[in-house]
This record gives sequence, C-alpha cells and structure tokens, in this order.
Amino acid sequence: MGNPPLNSPLGTIQLTSFNPTCKSNQKLLYKISANTLFTGQQLVFVPECHSTNSLASELATRSKLSEGTVVITAHQTAGRGQRGNRWETAEGMNLTFSILLKPSFLPVKNQFYLTVSTSLAVADFLKNHAVHEVSIKWPNDVLVDKKKICGILIENVVQKETIQQSIVGIGLNINQKNFTIATATSLAVVKNQDFDLNEVLNSLLECFEKRFLQLRGGKLSELKKEYLENLFGLGEWRRFASHGTAFEGIIEDVEENGALVVNVNNERRNYYLKDISFLMS
Ligand code: BTN
Repeated sequence: MGNPPLNSPLGTIQLTSFNPTCKSNQKLLYKISANTLFTGQQLVFVPECHSTNSLASELATRSKLSEGTVVITAHQTAGRGQRGNRWETAEGMNLTFSILLKPSFLPVKNQFYLTVSTSLAVADFLKNHAVHEVSIKWPNDVLVDKKKICGILIENVVQKETIQQSIVGIGLNINQKNFTIATATSLAVVKNQDFDLNEVLNSLLECFEKRFLQLRGGKLSELKKEYLENLFGLGEWRRFASHGTAFEGIIEDVEENGALVVNVNNERRNYYLKDISFLMS
C-alpha cells in the first residue's frame, strides 16, 4: 500500500514507502496532544530519512502543507548542521524534526528573530523540566552546563522583502547517553532518567508556538532582551577564532541582523556565522 495523500484530514501521517531502502523498523510513536493552535497539528513521521529539513522542503514543494506541519524521523542518516557540518544522532533516542512555517509577517531584515524565538523555546522547554545552567550559545546552540544539548538549523525561502517559508530544524538530545564528542549532553544525562519522546515532543511544540506567537505579535524587543539574558558568555572574556587566528574579547551585544558584537582591544567588531567560532576550554 502507498502513502496517504499529504493533504489527508488525518493529523498524523506515517510515510512508509518514502524511502524504499529504509532498514529502520521504527514505528510511529508520536501522537499530538500539544495544546497548540497549529504547531504539530499536522505531523508527518518517517521511520528513516536523510534529513528532516530536506524532506520537509521537498514535501512542501510537492504538496500544500499547512503552517506548523512537523516532519519527524526516528533515524536521520545525514542530518545537516550549521556551517555545512553534519548532525549525528542515535537512532530512536532523540528528537530530530523540522517545523514548516510561513512567516510572511516577518521582514527579511528581522529573520534572525526566528533564531531568537526558537532557541528561547528550547531553553523554556528545558527550564520547564527543571534543568539548570541553560544558556544559548550564539547564534542558536542550546547548552546545559556548557555542553550542547540542542542544535537548530533554520532555512528560509525569501521572496521580495519577506520570508515566504521557513523550515526550523531541531535536533534535541533526549535519551542518548554516549556521545562521540565530550562537549555534548542530553536531557537523560542531566536529569539522570529516561524520557518519553512523545511527551517531550508535545511539550516542546507548546514552548515553540508560544515563542512563535510572541514573534508574530511583534514583541521583538522582549525577545531580544530574553535572548541576551540567556546568552552564553555575555559580558565575559572569551576566546574565539576567526579565519585561523585566535583572539580574546568580550561579547557585548547581538545586532538586529544577528551579528555577534565582540569588543576586541576596545574596538566593537561585528561577526557573522562564517567568521567566528568559540574556543571552549
Ligand atoms: C547545528 O547545531 O549545527 C544544527 C543542527 C541541526 C540538526 C537538526 S536535526 C533535524 C533537522 N534536520 C537536519 O538535517 N538538521 C536539523
């Protein structure tokens, strides 16, 4: 049997035959109970895919998906990260999904606010689970005790001066205990217990929608203020690297266009994603 049409009235769809070479036998384990207006009210589950961001974009081109559609997988085989990096995640252990948005209300010059609202939503989710020492490492890594628990990849389709489509990809480590890098962590590691993936998805979607509605309501200065309050290293001496050169500076601010403002030798410098990385000690 083939897949149901994507505009099926069912809220949740499992695409079984999307990838005929799929070896994963993961079954649909998500049921939306989130108290949201639109986020996750349509959900597409695939047992396995290369990247939920790529799949969401492909599905959005092929069919009319409603705003807030969540594309989620149990096994992401070629997850994409920022700066062309890969996102590795253990099968069936973590949340790996993308949310389709149509934020045509948002001028392109304010697109960084999607990063702000999404990273704050993840921070809210963690704080709701009584996680301490949560911070946002510019631009949108979410850390707990200085270790990365969540990566976010936002891909926008811009037309004229507005954002027609945004795919917000979230990789949130939930039940994975062993990582290939020492600087990663998960909710299970910090709370010393396992979590139900369906429950945490629903609770994260609620946090996401609250922050997205704040953005849609034009509350940019509130969002920016809270983003700065959560920003890792704000006002502290930190070591960075830029195009092979290490230097020290103090993070002073983040510009409206998303540039990180670092004071280096009493000079305010603006850095974009490709130009700077943190040297974590
Ligand atoms: C990063 O920290 O570099 C961003 C990682 C983003 C990973 C998520 S997992 C779901 C979505 N699909 C992808 O291919 N990437 C994002």
